[in-house]
Amino acid sequence: MNIARIAACCTATLMLTSAIPASAQTISRGEVIATTCYTCHGTFGVSPSTIPSINEISPARMTDTLKGFRSGQRASTVMGRHASGYTDEEIVEVSVYFGNLQKKGK
Ligand code: HEC
Repeated sequence: MNIARIAACCTATLMLTSAIPASAQTISRGEVIATTCYTCHGTFGVSPSTIPSINEISPARMTDTLKGFRSGQRASTVMGRHASGYTDEEIVEVSVYFGNLQKKGK
């Protein structure tokens, strides 16, 4: 391996390692919370089962629905328990995250 190839290799490695923390920082709390929903509602909220898909719900409706589940105003089997773990702020963040997925066409 000549010097130029070693230099090219090291530059690529440096670019890669510096890209990792940068991309890790761009993961929002809304996205982290959304991954907990995927277990039941499917990846990106597209459900493969009888559990409803949640990929086409506007942020406003998602926020209202989750708060309704959390307060018990909206009947549920599991969503009341799941929603009770989130603050108002977290509910808005996950709702906005799903809303943005819609815009990206996912
Ligand atoms: C343990 C499985 C499970 C998890 C995890 C889960 N859900 Fe649900 N979700 C359900 C079920 C089941 C329903 C139907 C209502 C019920 O019985 O609780 C539902 C209903 C919903 C609805 C209403 C959909 C409609 O069309 O009526 C929304 C919105 C929703 N979930 C959002 C979420 C979000 C956002 C998350 C993550 C923060 C999440 N869910 C996590 C199982 C789950």
